[in-house]
Amino acid sequence: MIETPKGVRIAGIGSATPSKVISNRDLEKILDTSDEWIKSRTGISERRVVEPSEDSLEISVKACQKALGNTDPNEIDLIVVATSTPDFLYPSTACRVQAALKANRAAAFDLSAACTGFIFSLVTAAQFLQLGTYRKALVLGVDIHSRFLDWTDRSTSILFGDGAGAVLIEQTSFEENQLLSHSIHSDGSGGCDLSLKNVSGGYPSGKLNKQTENVQMNGRKIYQFAVTTIPKAIEETATMAGHKPEDINYLICHQANQRILDSVAEKMNWPKEKCISNISKYGNTSAASIPLAWDESYKSFQNGDLISLAGFGAGLTWGSLIWKWKEFN
Ligand code: COA
Repeated sequence: MIETPKGVRIAGIGSATPSKVISNRDLEKILDTSDEWIKSRTGISERRVVEPSEDSLEISVKACQKALGNTDPNEIDLIVVATSTPDFLYPSTACRVQAALKANRAAAFDLSAACTGFIFSLVTAAQFLQLGTYRKALVLGVDIHSRFLDWTDRSTSILFGDGAGAVLIEQTSFEENQLLSHSIHSDGSGGCDLSLKNVSGGYPSGKLNKQTENVQMNGRKIYQFAVTTIPKAIEETATMAGHKPEDINYLICHQANQRILDSVAEKMNWPKEKCISNISKYGNTSAASIPLAWDESYKSFQNGDLISLAGFGAGLTWGSLIWKWKEFN
């Protein structure tokens, strides 16, 4: 039997961050750095971090509940969670979120693609809806890098913050489809440029006192990787959607560095305002950064606006998609 192709639409967006704020001034007290250096090189003023008593579940559940609104959690068929800083290696964060929400019917799994995880997860979940397998899916990006940083390393600890962002997507008719195009990429040969090693297997179990090493990063290489791949990825998906890059109304790019966002705008010949930015408040929240920025900006979008989402990160991974905006209830 030939099935009619289906579409996918947004039915809710939500985000949550921990209440504890660490400002650049706070970091000046523990690191050889300055507010001026951090702001001018990254655009970051402060970041949120979880308290020792919290883990990623609290902010995950808050973000999902906001995205769900009045939707009954029992209507959710699928939960995909993008995270690379899970509280447990198993059960997955997705299964913990499923239990906390009482989304009892949902199949739930985590997806690991670091800071590109939300793009990979949204594309993955959308396939189930467009194929007609499922009707409603919750896609969450959550990371708590504060637990995996060496807070004495000024080259990494200034960059990251904790956060969660979620979208609820629903199956709709082919004519009302909002996901116009998507493209995801990986280059494992660049894995060493940004890594977080799980060292559990490397120690006799009795001597294990630490599960992971801290984040290792070649900042300059990652910067170059981002400013070359992201403009290409945006152009690729704009073309796939039958549009030109100038037709795009807003870009929600992974929030890693304001200079990266400004460079993308310049390469695309766009005004800077086209690139949504909230990095000054949150730093790099990894898989959460795109849905967090989406949640904070969507109220200014008009029906029919073309929204480009673009991410990059460890793997190396990168990807982009084009969303045709339509207000939801
Ligand atoms: N405070 C003060 N000085 C610092 C510093 C800090 N937090 N971090 C580095 N420096 C110093 C360096 O030691 C260096 O000093 P030197 O010139 O005396 O050797 C100088 O500042 C320049 O360092 P450099 O690493 O070249 O700075 P940069 O302009 O490349 O900025 C990053 C560093 C990390 C901000 C930038 O490379 C970056 O954002 N890269 C991308 C990282 C990223 O996005 N990662 C996540 C991807 S998902």
